[in-house]
Amino acid sequence: MYKLMVKRRNEHGDEYYDNYNVPADKASTVLEALLYIKENIDQTLSFRYSCRMEICGSCGMEINGRPRMACSTQLASLHSDIIKISPLPHYNVIKDLVVDFDPFFDKYKKVKPYIIRDDDGNYSAEIPQTPEQFNEFKEYAQCIKCGLCMAACPVVGTDENYLGPAPLTALFRYNIDNRDQGIMYRIDIANSDDGTSRCHFAGECTEACPKDVRPSFAIQKLRVQGLKYELKNIMGGKK
Ligand code: SF4
Ligand code: FES
Repeated sequence: MYKLMVKRRNEHGDEYYDNYNVPADKASTVLEALLYIKENIDQTLSFRYSCRMEICGSCGMEINGRPRMACSTQLASLHSDIIKISPLPHYNVIKDLVVDFDPFFDKYKKVKPYIIRDDDGNYSAEIPQTPEQFNEFKEYAQCIKCGLCMAACPVVGTDENYLGPAPLTALFRYNIDNRDQGIMYRIDIANSDDGTSRCHFAGECTEACPKDVRPSFAIQKLRVQGLKYELKNIMGGKK
């Protein structure tokens, strides 16, 4: 038997915990325990999920003090019969464990996370890419936009304008894609006051990432790329 303590809010916005006893085995996930509550104890409890297999990125929540995916966190891995669950920090709460992702995706859109071409895009054949070129950015392309890194980042928590680890990782991912020609449209965003210079390299984002994306590493590489780009401009070089 596990005791789940779930942080909620009343109609006045005051926080409190609801406690639920859930008969789950150790192999069960936190998401399965929450679904048990929803189906058998309390239908008013709200949380977000879809794929149940760490692909859709929608079930992030703080579980025993760390941002985690509910669908891939087994109860046994928490080494406790008491599981404390809260909504992801650094996001506004809509209800119970459901948070507002609009500001996250607004930042994401700002970094132009798509292939940009100088030409008209009217191709008779695909743009070739070797396995080596694909491997350059493959790690960063594993991002499922779950936002756990943003919840873990101490700078995101204190500076709402900071773009944050996931958007900056996406920015870098497209800058190093051999098919892309849009670095000049993104690098000023990376070098802006809300970009890489805000990162303190705490590394919490990489710790939290369920897909081993290593956003802190991407941000460091992006900072170097940004400096080189600025230097080239100062020296009058071309991209
Ligand atoms: S970098 Fe990792 S933690 Fe951040 S949004 Fe992508 S998958 Fe989630
Ligand atoms: S339900 Fe899709 S990532 Fe957890």
